[in-house]
Amino acid sequence: MININNVVKTYCDGMNKTEVLKGVNLTVFEGETVALMGRSGSGKSTLLNIIGGLISPTKGSVSIDGEETDYTDTNSLYKLRREKVGYVLQDFALISRKTVLNNVTFAVRSKAYKEKGYAKVKSMLADVGLIDKLESYPFQLSNGEKQRVAIVRALVDNKRILLADEPTGALDAENAERIMSIIKEKVKENNMAALIVTHDKDVAAKCDRVVNIEYGMIRSGM
Ligand SMILES: Nc1ncnc2c1ncn2[C@@H]1O[C@H](COP(=O)(O)OP(=O)(O)OP(=O)(O)O)[C@@H](O)[C@H]1O
Ligand SMILES: [Mg+2]
Repeated sequence: MININNVVKTYCDGMNKTEVLKGVNLTVFEGETVALMGRSGSGKSTLLNIIGGLISPTKGSVSIDGEETDYTDTNSLYKLRREKVGYVLQDFALISRKTVLNNVTFAVRSKAYKEKGYAKVKSMLADVGLIDKLESYPFQLSNGEKQRVAIVRALVDNKRILLADEPTGALDAENAERIMSIIKEKVKENNMAALIVTHDKDVAAKCDRVVNIEYGMIRSGM
């Protein structure tokens, strides 16, 4: 479902060039949830941003759902982000003037999720313990609650892949476990593939497989 082939990423800051990714190879299969670990600055967010079409690789290629990403075509990148990728960013990226419910329904395109006044969306929000917060605005939520909204938003609407940057970082152990079960369940149910950045060994242990990024390459668990 996600195929990363020899991806190199070099950041240029004036005269300074840093090669953050030095030839990353990784495949995430349908139905699979993979944990991506590595120390701060090792390039985890960079790799997620490349897969999600937010930035382009310096070299190498990425295929999502059998289709190679064309980083020169802004329209197809937009389509990729809109239709195929559910993204949970490190800072949640909720829309502050929309309620919890509208932050999620805003991302919904498919009919199945629009039916019965977004019943499916509401039940997913209930599953993560937010049924009492549907009409709340982000400023009225704790960080852990914001994170749960962002996760539901990334999982609705039959996206093909889930990319999550520390999705349980703001959550207590109990809620982290709950979120991981929901992620795994949805990924299996919808035949998605998930790549989850985490520093938490317990969260990683809940995934089907763990890979480590070190010195710009995937070092283990391939
Ligand atoms: N736009 C940029 N321009 C220049 N350097 C960058 C840019 N974005 C990231 N970097 C550098 O690339 C390296 C990898 O950053 P990245 O954010 O991918 O790390 P990370 O593994 O996600 O770290 P963390 O665990 O702290 O989130 C860092 O050294 C960072 O300073
Ligand atoms: Mg990061």
